[in-house]
Formats: sequence, C-alpha cells, structure tokens
Amino acid sequence: MRILVIHGPNLNLLGKREPEIYGSTTIDEINTLLKKEAKTLGADVEFSQSNSEGEIVNTIQEAMGSVDGIVINPAAYTHTSVAIRDAIASTGIPTVEVHISNIFKREDFRKKSFISGVSIGVVSGLGIDSYLLGLRGMVSYLKK
Ligand code: DQA
Repeated sequence: MRILVIHGPNLNLLGKREPEIYGSTTIDEINTLLKKEAKTLGADVEFSQSNSEGEIVNTIQEAMGSVDGIVINPAAYTHTSVAIRDAIASTGIPTVEVHISNIFKREDFRKKSFISGVSIGVVSGLGIDSYLLGLRGMVSYLKK
C-alpha cells in the first residue's frame, strides 16, 4: 500500500513559521515520524512539498495508478483552490485532509475548505498528530 503525503505552501518553513500556531517541529521531523508510523502500519509512504498550486495539481495527477491514497495538508490553498479540489476528484484517489491548527477556530476565511468535500475525512487542530492520525485513517480506510 502506497501513501503520498503532500505538504502545501509555506509548510517548508515549519519549525520557524509562527511557532505559536504551528509548533516547533520541522517538515523533515514530521516526515520521519510519518515514515515510522507507516512502517508500523505496513504501508509505504512518500513525500512532496510545493509552494505552487500547479505543481500540486501535477503531483496529484502523476500519482494516478501508482499511489493508493493521499494525505494532504493543502495549507493556504485549502481556502482557495478549485484546481486542487478538481485534481483530487478527477483522479479519484482517496484523500484525507489534515491541518496542524484548528481551521474552524481561526479567522473566518480559514473556515471554508474547498478540499473537504472531496476528502474521505478531515483531521484539524491536533498539531502534528493530525498528520499521524490522518495517515492511520487513510490506511484503515484502504484496508477495508
Ligand atoms: C494550515 C492552516 C491553513 O489555514 C494555513 O494557511 C496553513 C496551515 C494548518 O496546517 O493548520 O498554511 O493548513
């Protein structure tokens, strides 16, 4: 079972970026934890990060046929991107949306997600555990 984890814009700055909101763990540390968790779950995991909407769309399209599920933190594109939503819907790859912060507890513009409607589930607000729980949920969904 192959799972692709996609990190959206500005998540390359995790650890330095607004640590009071996003914590001090870096993207590399999150990926290491995910790799460990995936091993326990018997899944293979690969990673991608991009600050560009088109690149994320390409990554999702290229995953077709080679990846069983996607765990995505679309970051700011959550709230704006019809293109990423359509890529997920068009490929039909089961997708879990994750957020470090609780997007429903923040500014009004963050409360709307274009991605949730094409996701099998959403984990938001549990810090880096959102990624780990998202991965667990994805694997459990695929095993059923
Ligand atoms: C985020 C929440 C988004 O609103 C924000 O733009 C991000 C990160 C999160 O993980 O909490 O960049 O997706």
